[in-house]
Amino acid sequence: MEAKRLAAEKAASYVRDGMTVGLGTGSTASWAIKRLGERVREGLSIRAVATSVESERLAEASGISLVPFAEVQRIDVTIDGADEVDPHWNLIKGGGGALLREKIVAAASGRLIVVVDESKLVRRLGAFPLPVEVVSFGHELTIQALERLGCRPVLRLSDNRPFVTDGGHYIADCRIGAIHGHRQLHERLNAIPGVVENGLFMQMASQVIVGFRDGTVRELQ
Ligand code: A5P
Repeated sequence: MEAKRLAAEKAASYVRDGMTVGLGTGSTASWAIKRLGERVREGLSIRAVATSVESERLAEASGISLVPFAEVQRIDVTIDGADEVDPHWNLIKGGGGALLREKIVAAASGRLIVVVDESKLVRRLGAFPLPVEVVSFGHELTIQALERLGCRPVLRLSDNRPFVTDGGHYIADCRIGAIHGHRQLHERLNAIPGVVENGLFMQMASQVIVGFRDGTVRELQ
């Protein structure tokens, strides 16, 4: 927890007056939101777009001004966590279920700063099940199509019911194992009718900040 906090707070220190900031989702990103809230109380002037209802609530509670996405021309910087980061800074995201909004916001951002603790660094993506967001209508068929791709999908549950994303969709967690050929996998997944988006974030990260158990923070080069 401390390692996540340190990485997130380092990222928050890069935010400057006047910026429009994308607020990520998850336990690491929430430390960045809290730190930005403190800086706002100290006089920092920013506006923000949140990647989930959870982060929206935290931002409001922290005193950060939120703007509707429709009013934003460009997001200067987004700070978000990840479930896995490979040596090329490809990511798996969506463990918290917010991958769709996270990807939309990341794609609209000048910079995406990824904040993780050292446990998220992997040589190859895929040990963490890849979240795939699917439309609830016909999700059984969509999941069969994922099975045919060899993805070994499992419908994510919450209290014995399908977990529902902020967009009203379901998530299939795909236990693929070591991923070879991200680009091809990404295209095959998103070509399935009923798949909304998947949690592979390729070549989107501009910076990766890692917190370590020993209390140090390192920016990957
Ligand atoms: C949310 O949907 C995710 O993409 C999170 O950013 C990711 O799961 C990392 O979460 P933690 O910071 O809680 O580990």
